[in-house]
Amino acid sequence: MKRLAVLTSGGDAPGMNACIRAVVRKGIYHGFDVFGVERGYEGVIDGLFRPMGLNSVAGIIQHGGTMLKTARSERFTTEEGFAAAIRQLRELAVDALIVIGGDGSMAGAARLAAAKVPTVVIPATIDNDMPGTEYTIGFDTALNTVLEAVNRIRDTAASHERVAVVEVMGRSAGHIALMAGLACGAEAILLPEHPADMDDICKGLKQSHQRGKLYSIVMVAEGAGKGFDVAAQIAERTGFKPHVTVLGYIQRGGSPSAFDNIMGSRMGALAVDTVIQGNVNRLIAYQQGQLVAVPYEQAFANKRGIDLALYELASILAI
Ligand code: F6P
Repeated sequence: MKRLAVLTSGGDAPGMNACIRAVVRKGIYHGFDVFGVERGYEGVIDGLFRPMGLNSVAGIIQHGGTMLKTARSERFTTEEGFAAAIRQLRELAVDALIVIGGDGSMAGAARLAAAKVPTVVIPATIDNDMPGTEYTIGFDTALNTVLEAVNRIRDTAASHERVAVVEVMGRSAGHIALMAGLACGAEAILLPEHPADMDDICKGLKQSHQRGKLYSIVMVAEGAGKGFDVAAQIAERTGFKPHVTVLGYIQRGGSPSAFDNIMGSRMGALAVDTVIQGNVNRLIAYQQGQLVAVPYEQAFANKRGIDLALYELASILAI
């Protein structure tokens, strides 16, 4: 009997549904029984397994979120919870558990692999901050959502001649802030990986104001600080009255972009092929334009930093 299980874990990301659909349909195509696990690792512990047929994934590709639901499982990090998860998976007797999620989810999958439960991880988080891969499902949609939001904010900032501070997600990484800041032409970008000099930023805002540019966008990664604190510092140093928008979950939900659905579909299909080839305990990674399956140790060792050249470019273009 050939069996696969699939779950989504951690923060939801647009494109997860396309990925679930690909795992289910490619798995069935190759003769597997496929089980969906509800609520991530929580569902593994509680045995929330449901058989997935071809129709179970119909009509989901256009939706954000995840049809399997997701969770950040505290219980899975405890000895008891982990032991229960192992028991459940051994009983289900899967060839592999396919985990769609971020770096915390990959750490969980690696623990399972070490306990002889085969796993494969598909990278999915809007943060694009996973080691071992240059792309995570959901990042492109989140960027486009931020861009659209900033374009709207810009209309109002321009009309009222204001500084608009926009706080975006990313946890401790600045990929969303950097790439969205570049895409929307932000006047300043604050990243956790590149501590900002507030005096320099405020000097720049004042100079462009004197040159006749009467509004500005300041993009703040949540890992670099709170938007409201940044606004207070700008107000103190410049006398401007910045307006703050915290985009929050707006940037995590919504219909996936074409790119995220294509990546979700391709990565899901490759995960199934990887199991068929017997290459389990790997991350499906995007590296130099190619999709590859890399062992977890190799993935964890390949930490991703910020592209400082793009930060420089964004700064030059914002003068
Ligand atoms: O990992 C995705 C993310 O949206 C981060 O950008 C953010 O810091 C975090 O999740 C928020 O987590 P929660 O699901 O607890 O709101």
